[in-house]
Order: sequence, then structure tokens, then C-alpha cells
Amino acid sequence: MTKLTMDKIVAFSKTHGFIYQGSEIYGGLANTWDYGPLGVELKNNIKKIWWKKYIQERMNSYGIDASILMNPNVWVASGHVGGFNDPLMDCKECKTRHRSDSLIENYTNGLVTADGWSKEEMMEYINKNNIVCPNCGAHNYTEIREFNLMFKTHRGVTEDNKNEIYLRPETAQGQFVNFLNVQRSLRAKIPFGIGQVGKAFRNEITPGNFTFRTIEFEQMEYQLFCKPGTDDEFYEFFKNFSKDLFLDLGIRDEHLRYHDHEKLAHYAKAACDIEYLFPLGWGEVNGTHNRTNFDLTQHQDHSKKAMHYLDPETNEKYVPFVIESTIGADRAALMFLCEAYDEETLDNGETREILHLHPALAPYKVSVLPLIKKYHSEKAVELFNLVNKYFSTSYDETGKIGKRYRRQDVIGTPYCITIDDETTNNNTVTLRDRDSMEQITLKVDELIPYLNNKLFY
Ligand code: GAP
Repeated sequence: MTKLTMDKIVAFSKTHGFIYQGSEIYGGLANTWDYGPLGVELKNNIKKIWWKKYIQERMNSYGIDASILMNPNVWVASGHVGGFNDPLMDCKECKTRHRSDSLIENYTNGLVTADGWSKEEMMEYINKNNIVCPNCGAHNYTEIREFNLMFKTHRGVTEDNKNEIYLRPETAQGQFVNFLNVQRSLRAKIPFGIGQVGKAFRNEITPGNFTFRTIEFEQMEYQLFCKPGTDDEFYEFFKNFSKDLFLDLGIRDEHLRYHDHEKLAHYAKAACDIEYLFPLGWGEVNGTHNRTNFDLTQHQDHSKKAMHYLDPETNEKYVPFVIESTIGADRAALMFLCEAYDEETLDNGETREILHLHPALAPYKVSVLPLIKKYHSEKAVELFNLVNKYFSTSYDETGKIGKRYRRQDVIGTPYCITIDDETTNNNTVTLRDRDSMEQITLKVDELIPYLNNKLFY
């Protein structure tokens, strides 16, 4: 297949109803994107699978849905008000603004990351290597300045500082501030985890690269509260846990890599990203962080509420350590789209555009197709009404059957059910597999158990 480019995946996403430019008819709003009918199904499937794997299938795991707007002191305690900044510099020649760390990463094709570098270290590297402005080619920058990424808004009618609140820049703080609520109300014993899926907002000023970097996005975050001393083991566990999830859902091993952070945030004991080889290069999709007891201690100090856990067996009292496993739902959706997209050359020389999505991710699991609209649509609608009670199902009666198969291949539908004379006479249907294109005949009664078996995840 020809090399997949970002432009191709953007155009594909729009054409087939996955992702559109946000506010497009008004010229868009930079770094915002809207999910169309197929995209919302894909993203919902990712979130459902995450919830099942992290919350439902794990012992001692609890889900929450915390508010996006939180008491502003949360963000003072977490360090976001003081330190959630991007290092920015302007090109004095063409007046474009750049992130200093991105300039370094792009210049070295991702081989050097400026994780945890000081402003001085970045400036020195940029000057020493004569890194030029990607827009005009000049090397004439302003000093690096820190720019806070949090979106502010005002509560109530007066827009003064006292009423200033923030849109959350990460969902994780919802887990920290509810640690004691969950522990007490569920009588949870350490180690236990709290997770949530929700929107986060960051005032990113750098160009987005489609949904890879946006100002509004969804996170799936999980915090495992554990006894200090057991943290290293859980850290390793979650690094593998998230990678296995990606592999299990069809990402090829050679398209994933770990990136251990060399310089760590002040609160972290260890941090590692899982990066995917996007058409634009390697990019982070998941992070595993050993956040020690930093967050709970900070909230304890700022709220004056004790954040201790009392071990019922040993009577030990301690502030738990936290291992965080976080995945961006939008980056995951983009990763699965890029991985699944393919252009196959068939035996007859035709090109088949196809999404090899794992069935659990596919927007539609099944499509019901009457062979000839005039004769078979009544029975097909009957079948559609049966099947869609179990699986997300589409219905298509327009055009030649071959064209209709292709329309489902390109959006990743794993199975097509064709209704023909055999269905009306013998109560059998033809089931076509997306990847192999093989067809089998099944009795209508066998259809749901057969598909259940194939589509269960
Ligand atoms: N609570 C830790 C935290 O927020 P992060 O690495 O800043 O860590 C976690 O974000 C994940 O959220 C990333 O791995 C990425 O998948 C996603 N993410 C972060 N910023 C994003 C953005 N601007 N647009 C889309 N996804 C983003």
C-alpha cells in the first residue's frame, strides 16, 4: 500500500464520517475537531473497552465521574497554577510562535526530547545547533517565556480574579480529591484503583497535527493507590498492561515503543510513555507515572484534611503512593484509525480500501444488505430489527451488492449479512467476512449466537 500520510487520514476521516473540522462553516477553530457518526462510535468503543479492562475486570477498581470545574485550590495544590507551562519563543523575523521543546524534538526527529530541561538548557541547545524557524528558516528568536496552559473562566456574573475558575487540564485530580470518599464509602482496601474518563482542556498554542494535539480532548486515567514499597512492581505492571491492551486490539508491536523519561517532573519517581508510530512520527498515546505520595500530600497540606490510609491488618498509617496509567482517547482513536487503514490490491487488480479494525472497535459490527431491494427489503428490515438489538448494525439497500460490501469494508464493518431468496424460502442468510471476504451460509436462528461468539470482547 502507498504510504499513509496525515493529510490522507484527515481526508479519509471527513469523507467517511469519522472526524470533521470543528466549526467548519465558520472557518473552523484551530485545534478543535468534531466526531461524526462513525467517529463517535469508534471513540465510545475505545472508552467502553478501557472501562471494562481497567475498572470492571480488575479487582478493587472503582469508576467515578468528577466535575470538570473544581475548586481553584485543587490546581494550586496540584502545581498546575504555578507550573503547568509550555516554554514558548517567537521568531523575530516572521512573528510565529513555537514551543522550544518541540523545535528540539522536530530537529532531532524525536531522538532528543527536552523532558524536564530548563529554559537555559533548551536555549543553549537551539543556539548551538542553529535550529531555525520552521516557518521562515531564520534563526532569530526571542527569549523563552513560560505560558500557562490552563483555560480560565469565571463563576457568577462578575469577571474578577476572585471568581476565576479553571477548566481541568487533566482528569486525575478528580481521583485524588475523591480518594477518601471512595475508600470509605466502598470500604476499599489498599491496593485499590480509581479511574475516570472525561474531558480535559489545555490552551495549546502549537499546531495540532489533527486530533493528536487539541485544546479539548478526552482522557482515560487510572490511579492505583498502593503502599510505599510496592510501587515499583505496580509501575512495571501498568507499563505492560497498557501495551498489552494496544497489542490485543490489533496494534503491531513494531509500531509501539516505550519511552522512559530521563528527566522527571519534580513529583515523579519514574515515568514512561508508550509511543505509536503515527504518519507524523512517534507520538505518546499512554503514560505510566509513579507519582509517589506527592498529590495526596499536597491536597492534605492545602485542604488541611488528612489523606492517610489506616491499614486494618497492621494498624500502619501512611499516605499511599500512586501509580498512574493514562491514555488519551482521541490519540488512541487516531492510532487505531492509522493502524487499521489499508489499501489492498485484489486478484482482479482492483484496489480495496479497508479498515482492519478489531471487531470490538468497529463502529458497526454488522451490516444488513437485501440483495434486491424490491424483493428482499421487507425480510431485511425484519433481520435488521433483530440484529440491532444485540450489535451496532447498519442497513444499506442502495446500489450493487459488491459496491455495498466495499462501503462496509472502508468503515471497518466486520460482517455483512446478505438477504436473498434463500432467506425468504429457507430462512438462511449469507454472512461475509470483511478481511477474508469469505462467505458462509447460516440459519437465521444461528446468526446471533454465531456473531456473539465472534464479536465478544
Ligand atoms: N494525568 C497525567 C496527564 O495528564 P499527560 O501526559 O499530560 O499526563 C495524558 O496526558 C494523555 O493525554 C497523553 O498520553 C495523551 O494521550 C493525552 N493528551 C495530552 N495532551 C493532549 C492534547 N493536547 N490533545 C490530545 N491528547 C492529549
